[in-house]
Amino acid sequence: MEIRKVAVLGAGTMGHGIAQVCASSGFQVALGDVSDVQLAKAVEKVRGSLEKLASKGRLQGEVADVLGRLSVSSSMDSVLDGADLVIEAVPEKMELKLELFRVASAKAPAHAIFATNTSSLSVTEIAADTGRAERVVGLHFFNPVPVMELLEIVRGLSTDDATIEAAVAFAKRIGKDPVVVKDWPGFATSRLGIILGCEAIRMVEQGVASPADIDKAMKLGYRHPMGPLELTDLVGLDVRLAIMEHLFAELGEQFRPPALLRQMVRAGKLGRKSGEGFYTY
Ligand code: 3HC
Repeated sequence: MEIRKVAVLGAGTMGHGIAQVCASSGFQVALGDVSDVQLAKAVEKVRGSLEKLASKGRLQGEVADVLGRLSVSSSMDSVLDGADLVIEAVPEKMELKLELFRVASAKAPAHAIFATNTSSLSVTEIAADTGRAERVVGLHFFNPVPVMELLEIVRGLSTDDATIEAAVAFAKRIGKDPVVVKDWPGFATSRLGIILGCEAIRMVEQGVASPADIDKAMKLGYRHPMGPLELTDLVGLDVRLAIMEHLFAELGEQFRPPALLRQMVRAGKLGRKSGEGFYTY
């Protein structure tokens, strides 16, 4: 099946990046969110990122042409109208995702593939109520989306081969290098990435070293591009807590969220997006 129009639901950190790479690759993109303010911010972030890429000669075509392929709306009807691929990028809450796909099932074309950008939740469960479980797949993007090469494609229990093939072709078209993994809590990425973040926060609690020194140690000693605490600030402490809670329930004790993380989220210290996390921005 040929994908022409992509609908992206959720204009937050991941949603705007996903919309950007799709529009940059020639797709018509409709970005939807309940908040018009969030949509306006998303367009400005996309513009900023495109200008940065263009100034380094890394953008194919003109900024204006890419933006011309991107429309935004708070109306689900107009976002889903004619969509061949629907990518959900709303917060990591199963109820929210189920409700969104319930609405999308009624409004999107029958042939459309549904994809979830979930970091850890069950693609199989998300698919179950859509009436098209064979055409539901996980498309797990990484932050910052325009820069990160990986697309983790998650095969739910009912996902068919044609959908996986379409997902792999889509990944290549948007310039990503895919891996296809089984639907299992945390997949191949979050399960490992989260454990590192979890332990780093426990080490801060235990006073082993300062956040800056823990990050420095992993950057210089293990050649990670970013330390686990800087990365937690980039991803969002609330996002990482939600993933840990799910993996703790599904996989056990090693994922128990550190008390410090809970406290920081309660205090509104969510990382870069709130101006403070393990560092101040
Ligand atoms: N748009 C366009 N370009 C961007 C960008 C954006 N949003 N963000 C960064 N860049 C570009 C910069 O302009 C720069 O380009 P240059 O090399 O030509 O100067 C390049 O990317 C590198 O950026 P910086 O020089 O600012 O800084 P770094 O060299 O430290 O790179 C980084 C930044 C790419 C974020 C790097 O630190 C990195 O790879 N960090 C790890 C990120 C990571 O692990 N992400 C996964 C998080 S987990 C996740 O997303 C999963 C989810 O489920 C939560």
